[in-house]
Amino acid sequence: MDTGNSTVFILLGLSHSQEIQIFFFVIFFLVYVAIVVGNLLIVISVIFDNHLHSPMYFLLANLSFFDLCISSVATPKVIADFLRKCKTISLWGCMVQMFFMHFFGGGEMSLLIAMAIDRYVAICKPLHYQTIMNHRMVIGFLVLSWSIGFIHTTSQMVFTVGLPFCGPNVVDSIFCDLPLVIELACTDTYVLELLVIADSGLLSLVCFILLVISYIIMFVTLWQRSSSASSKAVSTLSAHITVVTLFFGPAIFIYAFPFNSYSVDKFLSVFYSIITPFLNPIIYTLRNQEMKAAIKRLMKKGGEVALLLILNLSNDNKFIETVQ
Ligand SMILES: *[C@@H]1O[C@H](CO)[C@@H](O)[C@H](O)[C@H]1NC(C)=O
Repeated sequence: MDTGNSTVFILLGLSHSQEIQIFFFVIFFLVYVAIVVGNLLIVISVIFDNHLHSPMYFLLANLSFFDLCISSVATPKVIADFLRKCKTISLWGCMVQMFFMHFFGGGEMSLLIAMAIDRYVAICKPLHYQTIMNHRMVIGFLVLSWSIGFIHTTSQMVFTVGLPFCGPNVVDSIFCDLPLVIELACTDTYVLELLVIADSGLLSLVCFILLVISYIIMFVTLWQRSSSASSKAVSTLSAHITVVTLFFGPAIFIYAFPFNSYSVDKFLSVFYSIITPFLNPIIYTLRNQEMKAAIKRLMKKGGEVALLLILNLSNDNKFIETVQ
C-alpha cells in the first residue's frame, strides 16, 4: 500500500491532443493575465481613489482580492501542465489545492452575501444606511467571510488528509477537486461524501436561494419607486445577480450532485477557477460609471508617474554624461 509522501496523483487535464493543449495553454495564459490585471486594477483604484471610499466599493475590492486568490490556487500549475505530457501532483500539493480552493471559495460566498446585505440596506433602509453600514460593520463582514471560509474548508479537510490512497490515483480534471479525490480513497467514504454534500453543496444551494430571494425583494422595492436613481441601482443589482449566478451555478452543480462522475464536472471546474474571476471585473467595471472613471484617473496618474520617472532617469543620464 502506498502511504505518506510517495503518493502521487495524475491529472488527466482537458484533452489528449497536443495541438489542443497548446491552444488551451495560450487561452488560459491570456485569461490568467487578464484576471490578475483586471482584479488588481479594481483593488488599486478602490484603495487609492477617494471617490470610491464607500462600503460598496470596499466590499467589491475585497471580492476582487478573493478572485485573485481563487484563480491563483491552481491556475498557474494548470497552465504549466498543458505543456507537460505527464501531469502529476503530490499528495500534499493536492491537499493544499483543495484546502485553499474551499478557503477562498467559502470566503467569497460569504462576501457575496455581505454585498447583498449592503445593497439591501441601501435600497430598503436608505435613511439608516450611513448608521448601519459603518466602517466597523464592513470590517466585521470581512472578518466573518475569512472565518467562514476557514471553518468551511477545515471541516472537510480534517477528514480528507488522513484518507488512504492505494492507487491508481487518476483525477479526471485539471486540478484536485474534492469529490474526485475522495472517490479515489481505498476506504469507505460514504459519510465523508455526505459531509461534503452538506458542507459544500447544501451550503451553496441555501446561500444561493437566500441571495436570489433578497435580490427579488430589492428589485420589487426599486420597481415600485421607479425613478432615475433607481435605474442606476437596477443596473448595479443586475451586475450582482450575474456574478452570483456565475459563481454559485457551477459550485452547486459540482457539490450538490457529486460522485456521479459527470465528465462535465471538469469543464465546470474551469468555470469556477478562471471564468468567474475573469468576468467579475468586466461585469463590474463595464456597468459602473464611477468605477470606469476611477480606473481612467488611475491610468492617468500611473502615466504621469511613469513619465516623471522617465524624465528623472534621463536627467540622471545627462548628469552622468556631464560628469564624465
Ligand atoms: C477590503 O475592505 C477593507 C475595509 O474597508 C479595506 O480597507 C481594504 O482595503 C479592502 N481590501 C482590499 C484588498 O481591497
